[in-house]
Amino acid sequence: MEKFSAKKCSLQILSKQHVMLHVTLTHRYLLLPVEENQGLVRIKVIQNGDVKQVLNVKLAIHNSDYSVPLALQQWEGKTVLLDIVFSENTSVLKSIEDYVCWELLQYSETFDTENREKFRPIYHHTPSYGWMNDPNGLFYNKGIWHLYYQYNPYGSQWENMTWGHATSENLVHWQHEGTPLLADALGMMFSGSAVVDHHNTAGFGEGAIVAFYTAAGDNQTQCIAFSNDEGKTFQKYSDNPIITAPIADFRDPHVFWNEDIQQWNLILAAGKEMFIYTSKNLKVWHFESSFGFGYDTDDEVWECPDLMKLPIKGTDRCAWLLICNINPGGPFGGSATKYFVGSFNGYEFNCESNLLKSKWMDYGKDHYAMVTFDNAPEHRRVGIAWMSNWEYANEVPTQQFRSANTVPRDLSLFVYDGETYVSSIPSEELLHMRKEIVDRPMPACELVIDITSQQADLEIVLQNHLKERVIMKYKPQHETFSFDRKHSGNVSFHSTFAKKIEAPTLGKITQLRIFIDKCSIEIFDAEGKMVMTNLVFPTESYDEMKLIGLATCTIYRLE
Ligand code: FRU
Repeated sequence: MEKFSAKKCSLQILSKQHVMLHVTLTHRYLLLPVEENQGLVRIKVIQNGDVKQVLNVKLAIHNSDYSVPLALQQWEGKTVLLDIVFSENTSVLKSIEDYVCWELLQYSETFDTENREKFRPIYHHTPSYGWMNDPNGLFYNKGIWHLYYQYNPYGSQWENMTWGHATSENLVHWQHEGTPLLADALGMMFSGSAVVDHHNTAGFGEGAIVAFYTAAGDNQTQCIAFSNDEGKTFQKYSDNPIITAPIADFRDPHVFWNEDIQQWNLILAAGKEMFIYTSKNLKVWHFESSFGFGYDTDDEVWECPDLMKLPIKGTDRCAWLLICNINPGGPFGGSATKYFVGSFNGYEFNCESNLLKSKWMDYGKDHYAMVTFDNAPEHRRVGIAWMSNWEYANEVPTQQFRSANTVPRDLSLFVYDGETYVSSIPSEELLHMRKEIVDRPMPACELVIDITSQQADLEIVLQNHLKERVIMKYKPQHETFSFDRKHSGNVSFHSTFAKKIEAPTLGKITQLRIFIDKCSIEIFDAEGKMVMTNLVFPTESYDEMKLIGLATCTIYRLE
C-alpha cells in the first residue's frame, strides 16, 4: 500500500468546505478513510470537465473507522480530479487542511475483504464489505441462483444505492460477482426484481435477464435494464423510465409471468397502496388496479411487494399471496413483512380475509423486504429477506460490513381455523450444510428440538459464561412462542433493540429448527406455521443450552 498524503500533493483549498485533489490512475484503488459519525461528503470524480461518478462518503475528520475503495482503473487516461464538498454543518474546530483523511488516503493494488469480524455469519449471504439492505432481482437460471441487493460500496451505512450481485449453486454459499447497476442521471438504484425472458417478449434476446428497478432521483421512476450474459452485466434500456406517476413513494417493481392470462404482471408500492400492471413485452405497461386504498393503516409506507400463486397444503386448491413489506408498523416496532391472501385474475387482487387482521410472514424483529426468486426449479417459491430492521439497521455493532440476508425459505399456504396463512420452511438445501452432531451450541449451528409433550411449557435458554442469554418459550396451551433478547449481549446500541416478543404458533409445534449464525437466530416450526428471525450480539458465542420441559435436542454444526 502506498500512502497518498494529499497534503503533500496537490490539495487545492477552495473554501472551508470545499477542496479539489488530483489523483493519478496508476493504481487499482484509492482507499478512502471513513468516520461513521461524520456527515456525508460529496465527491465528484471529474475528468476533462465531465463528471464520471458522484459518491457520498463520510470522509474521516478526526479518526478513521475503516476504509472503502474507490476503483481507479475504470477510467482511462492518467488522472482524475476529485471535487470534494463537506456539508455546510460540518462544525469542527479544525481547518479543512488538517482533517485526517488527507493523511490517510492511500493508493493500493488490493482491498482487503477478509472475513475477520466476529459477527460475520458463516452460512448467510453478506456483502464482502459495505452496507446492504433489501434483496433485489432474485432469479434462478441454468443451475445458478442469482441474488442482487441494495448495496453501498462506499460505507457501512445506507447511501449511494447500487445493486450488488452474488451467485450460488446451493442457495447457501454465495460468491461475489460485482456491482452491475450503478446510479445514473435518473437517480440511485432502488429495489426491484428480475425475470428470465425465455421467449424474448421484450426483444432483448432469447433468455435475456430483464431487471426492473426504481431510479430514485428527484422523483421515483421505474426503469429496465437487460443482460445477455446471465446477469453479470446490464445495459440500461434507452427509453427509461417506463412507468411514472406523480406519487412521492412509488417504487420496488416486482415482475412475473402470469400463466393464467399469458401476460406479464408488475406490482409496485405506491404510498400505502400496491399498483398492478400488465404487459405483453415487458416494456409497455398498462395500469390495471390498485390494492389497499382506504384500508386505514398506521403503517408509514408499503414497500417491496411480491405476488404469487401458491398451493394450499392438504388440498388441491391454490390461492394468491400478496407480500407487503411495511416500514414502520411492524408488530414489535419498525419494519416487518405483512401479507394478504386472496384471489388474483391477472388484473385485480381481492383479499379473502379481514384486511384489518394483520398476518406476518415472520414474527421476529429482523425480517424485511422478503421477496422470492423468479424461475425457480420444480415450481418452488423460495424467498429471502434482509435480516435487519430500519429502526437500528445503520447502528448494529458491525463495521466493515453491515447486514446479512436470511436463510432461504420455501413458501406455501395452509389453513388454520378457517384462515389461510403462509407456511415458511427452511429450504432443503440447508440440510446439506449439516456437519457433525455436537454436544453444545456453536457459533454456526442448527438445533433440532423434538417436543415430546404438549402438556407442559418448554423453555430453551441459550447462554454464554458471561450469563448473556436468550430465553425462548413455547406455550402449547396458549399456542405462543416468545423470544427474549433483553440480556442477549450488546443491546445498548439502540433503545428499541432489547425486547421480548411473542408469536402465535397457529397450532401445536412438534419440532423446532433453530438456526444460529454468529449474530442471528432464526426459529422455524419445522412444519412452517411459525417463523421468527432475530439478531443478537453476544460478547462471546452462546455455548450452553438449557432445555426445561419435555423435549430432546440434536445440535448440528453448520458450515
Ligand atoms: C426498503 C426500501 C425500498 C427502497 C430501498 C432503498 O427497505 O426502502 O423501498 O427501494 O429500501 O434502499
